Amino acid sequence: MPDLDQKALRAAFGSFMTGVTIVTAKAPDGTLVGFTANSFTSVSMDPPLILVCPGNHLSSFDVFKNCTHFAANILSENQQDTSDIFAGSKGDRFAQVDWQADKNGVPILTEAIASFSCSTHKSITAGDHLVLIGKVEAFSKSDGLGLGYWKGGYFTLSKEREAQISSRPDEAIIVGAIMENQNGILVTSDNDKLALPSVELLHDAQARIGIKDHLNSIGLMVEIGRVYSVYHDRISKKRFIYFRATSQDINNVSLGNILPLDAAPAANWRDKAEAVMIRRYLTERSNNQFGLYIGDSNAGEVHHETQG
Ligand SMILES: Cc1cc2nc3c(=O)[nH]c(=O)nc-3n(C[C@H](O)[C@H](O)[C@H](O)COP(=O)(O)O)c2cc1C
Repeated sequence: MPDLDQKALRAAFGSFMTGVTIVTAKAPDGTLVGFTANSFTSVSMDPPLILVCPGNHLSSFDVFKNCTHFAANILSENQQDTSDIFAGSKGDRFAQVDWQADKNGVPILTEAIASFSCSTHKSITAGDHLVLIGKVEAFSKSDGLGLGYWKGGYFTLSKEREAQISSRPDEAIIVGAIMENQNGILVTSDNDKLALPSVELLHDAQARIGIKDHLNSIGLMVEIGRVYSVYHDRISKKRFIYFRATSQDINNVSLGNILPLDAAPAANWRDKAEAVMIRRYLTERSNNQFGLYIGDSNAGEVHHETQG
């Protein structure tokens, strides 16, 4: 087998967008175990089967390997905290969430948007993971949007939808990108004033595709990431949408310059809102916790669901 670049492979696997589940079981000594998993898949209707893949790194691996019953709980978009608890926290994870036992004593998370109580149908060792196939014995489902996971970060559809603003006919859309490499962020300059790369779109254009096409057209192959800021400017009657973006060839671009991050706060920005946004970006970057601003050019709210 050729030696594959592990980091690149992990990133490639992470390109598959998924939901997030908490997989739970009860150990023979009565201890409750659970871990965050995005390997959940529905497999069969007849019989009703699902699968999850516990890794042999899990502290609870032996419990899942030998379990006769387990459950998979699909998280709602408000349960990012729950995902974090079951992806790393020490101590009693179940003391931090609401749950009730199914008829086999397996914990079912109360706020999940769907839960499946399973008996173990088959368990197959596959490399460093187990393919644990469960026969659904009981399930519950409620309304609500699920929590999403993509490229190592969470996303929520409601926030993404809010950002997919359908503009009014009298309103232009400016779509911009915050694009960073190891030396700084990409900026354009206009009479000694700095701006983020952006493009004006027709009101019915798709923002994400529009900025990608624009950057491609100037020779920059980019990956457009999550929405970072959406605001309306009453004076110019324009709506601004900014995405975080990454590019391998950001240094080769003729469009602008790379501004070192430590020079960004004091730089002479053309637009006050962009200056404020960049300052927020620097703070959030140092905390590795990015938010999404929704509002107007003066006031709005930062939603902190997104990460990574
Ligand atoms: C979104 C997300 C999905 C994950 N999916 C899986 C998975 O499918 N299988 C797995 O073994 N670990 C997965 N993990 C990692 C485990 O949740 C994590 O290693 C967990 O803390 C291990 O539990 P432990 O601390 O009890 O060992 C995932 C983590 C996250 C954040």
